[in-house]
Amino acid sequence: MAGTALPTDDELAAAGLRLAVEERPQGGIARITLARPERHNAMTDRTWTALAHVGHALPASVRIVVIDGEGPSFSSGIDTAMFAPGNEDSALNRFIRDPAGRADLDAAIAGYQEGFLWLRRPGIVSVAAVHGHAIGAGFQLALACDLRILSDDADLCMKEPALGLVPDLTGTKPLVDIVGVNRALELCLTTRTVGAQEARELRLAELVVPGDQLAGAVDDLVTALLETPRDAAAATKELLLGAPGRTLEEQAAAERAAQVERFAAWAAAAGRS
Ligand code: ACO
Repeated sequence: MAGTALPTDDELAAAGLRLAVEERPQGGIARITLARPERHNAMTDRTWTALAHVGHALPASVRIVVIDGEGPSFSSGIDTAMFAPGNEDSALNRFIRDPAGRADLDAAIAGYQEGFLWLRRPGIVSVAAVHGHAIGAGFQLALACDLRILSDDADLCMKEPALGLVPDLTGTKPLVDIVGVNRALELCLTTRTVGAQEARELRLAELVVPGDQLAGAVDDLVTALLETPRDAAAATKELLLGAPGRTLEEQAAAERAAQVERFAAWAAAAGRS
């Protein structure tokens, strides 16, 4: 979808989102705000498809994506109205009416997941700024980001199993990668709430700060991230994201390949000057 226009402000508002793109000399910063504060930023399928649209359409200048929430919470997760009988927009309700439509439901969920998966692509660094509740899909959105800064009032909860569901918005892999299978199992199957300090101990947060310092801490991180040259940052992120799936020897080979590319880029730049 390269070259696609960003969603309009009205489209974003209908999806419960706001977007602002700030250009700095070192690169652009996209700030995505979950903006249904009266519902603790509950998210609908429109929110996730709009997030996917944003991901496809962001200007190439953007290097950092910050996701935060307006009002008392980061996000209370899926809008429970999506489960309400008679909600014709809901893929779940369509499936309940026609259980043969498994492929349609699978495709719908794949579309929702697109709203989360792009946050890991190498060319950007994504940062979740979490305060208040991050429940279910809200917790998964925070997990979809590369880095998480929490305010000290943040509460994380993987609520899906309590509702008879599994977490399906890409959150299980980062959760297991960060806390390990046994702790992930305990968190998901008890659906207990993890406060900010415990989240820090479990490495679910890179940083925990007092609530009134959250925006400043995010800005400091963004400024520091932008200091690293764009291409080196992207290549390093790609290398690090691939590391858990490689042996030491494979990772060493990947380092060499990436470094050769870096030197080739330098050589090409020197040849042009
Ligand atoms: N979907 C729809 N509406 C919501 C949601 C939600 N996920 N969360 C909160 N709201 C609404 C409430 O119904 C309430 O509406 P009202 O003012 O019309 O009564 C309003 O937001 C304010 O919420 P309160 O419950 O009054 O606020 P409180 O501070 O007491 O609690 C909390 C906040 C903890 C977020 C609570 O609302 C809650 O538990 N919400 C449901 C969370 C949930 O189960 N999410 C689904 C997880 S699974 C998944 O995401 C796939």
